[in-house]
Amino acid sequence: MTEATPTPSGPDLTTGLDLAHIPDNAMVLGHVGPEAVLLVRRGEEIFAIGNSCSHYHGPLNEGLVVGDTVRCPWHHACFSLRTGERLRAPALDPVPCWRVERQGSLVYVREKRDTAAVAPARPASEAAGVIVILGGGAAGNSAAETLRHEGFGGRILMLSADDSVPCDRPNLSKDYLAGSAPEEWVPLRPPEFYREHGIELHLGVRVTAIDRANRRLQLEDGSTHVYDKLLIATGADPVRLNLPGGDLPHVCYLRTLADSRAIIAQTATARRAVVIGASFIGLEVAAALRARQLEVHVVAPEAIPMERVMGAEIGGLVRALHEQHGVHFHLGTTAIAIDPRNVTLKTGEKLDADLVVVGVGVRPALGLAEKAGLEIDRGVVVDRNLRASDPNIFAAGDIARWPDPHSGENIRVEHWVVAQRQGQAAGRNMVGRNEPFDAVPFFWSMHYDVSILYVGHAEKWDEVEIDGSVEGKNCRATYRRDGRVLAVATIGRDLESLRAEVDFETASHPPTLQQTAG
Ligand SMILES: Cc1cc2nc3c(=O)[nH]c(=O)nc-3n(C[C@H](O)[C@H](O)[C@H](O)COP(=O)(O)OP(=O)(O)OC[C@H]3O[C@@H](n4cnc5c(N)ncnc54)[C@H](O)[C@@H]3O)c2cc1C
Ligand code: FES
Repeated sequence: MTEATPTPSGPDLTTGLDLAHIPDNAMVLGHVGPEAVLLVRRGEEIFAIGNSCSHYHGPLNEGLVVGDTVRCPWHHACFSLRTGERLRAPALDPVPCWRVERQGSLVYVREKRDTAAVAPARPASEAAGVIVILGGGAAGNSAAETLRHEGFGGRILMLSADDSVPCDRPNLSKDYLAGSAPEEWVPLRPPEFYREHGIELHLGVRVTAIDRANRRLQLEDGSTHVYDKLLIATGADPVRLNLPGGDLPHVCYLRTLADSRAIIAQTATARRAVVIGASFIGLEVAAALRARQLEVHVVAPEAIPMERVMGAEIGGLVRALHEQHGVHFHLGTTAIAIDPRNVTLKTGEKLDADLVVVGVGVRPALGLAEKAGLEIDRGVVVDRNLRASDPNIFAAGDIARWPDPHSGENIRVEHWVVAQRQGQAAGRNMVGRNEPFDAVPFFWSMHYDVSILYVGHAEKWDEVEIDGSVEGKNCRATYRRDGRVLAVATIGRDLESLRAEVDFETASHPPTLQQTAG
């Protein structure tokens, strides 16, 4: 993701702006000193918040105002206009907020208000039990932060098999892998954050069993941890190739920061890479390796990349984009063997390769939940509050299959934002809130300078309607089954993606949301 450097433009909001220049429900971009400030009028109320999204600096003035919130156009984070508070992932932090004063017809933006990201951890004496979070990824991190934000005063233990603190996993196949983002950007939080908030982070540890009767976790190193409530957020593991040479040292998989580092280390000497699998991750890796000047070949069985998820038109664009950047495709075939210098295809063709990256999909890490006897249906079955079939256990993220109110189906997805938002909801529900998880599924994928945004969930569709120009990178694809809209993908139409999200929400909860301006 390219970082936008907001250049303050528009009026100086400290000098007074005539109310007549702030149309109701519209957004006005101005500045306070060097900071870009967004002014929003809602009837008689006027709000002023920072314009730069705290996730990757998306321009909020190009987003959508919904009630007294604003949503970011890039990855749909949501902030309170009243306080700047971050209401929805993927942002973790609030945006600044200013006090607004009216004098007659003039509106002045005054001093900045104090906005705290996470309420400070309460002292241990206020302990209210032990919550163990099994997994230090998107969902686990989000749940831990939410627990403290909700004022939970007990112990929080986060157990992660990863060696690194919870990290910005999507970046591992994008800017970080391409060399355009430094490693400092990858951790979601610095290590001291966890200490300051009383989150006991255990890294590089593997849980081997969940003893539900005694509410105890068994770890690989022989230690145990008891819990009052448990969140399972073990994510997914890359599907491994079972073919000759599949375990050679130059064959890489990508899930963790350590995996991404290992690929980067190989690019120091590698010249020709073969990416096996035209998945989102496989293709993002292809783009990142091109940025590092490697020759890249992609091998995959499908005729058009991403056709199953996105349809032939968008899949065709994705292929064309990669070809324009020098990626060679070998479609309609698979790899059958790897040796230190080549990848052999089913067609008999041999591709030179001193680096092989496998991106053939992931499997949810269900082993522990299954062994513990929790209800499983191609995922851990949870209710609308993300509670599993044991009242003391919740599940979130890539492993959870939840009742999605929008499609009316029980679904499981592998999306960063969904995992984070489920972590938020699970965190609240573990401290007794009764908050159904009803966010509309959303993901994005980045190919060079083209971002594809996808809202909704269409495992199968029978019609895809394209509006606009796919080749012109300005389009909307609407996926329907039996005439019903299930999902919307957009390219170059970020606002339309936000509107589609609101449309799904209002279709499921008609009276509550009020869409106003964009
Ligand atoms: C390279 C890459 C790029 C991606 N890009 C995008 C994108 O652009 N957009 C998008 O929407 N999604 C993207 N995703 C998917 C997204 O990252 C996942 O959906 C999300 O991370 C799922 O969150 P999670 O918390 O369920 O699992 P994870 O983030 O995978 O975290 C799982 C955690 O569980 C731990 N764990 C597992 N088993 C055990 C055990 N037995 N004991 C202890 N700890 C254990 C792991 O160590 C890890 O800490 C990408 C994924 C990858 C790998
Ligand atoms: S930049 Fe705003 S949500 Fe990502």
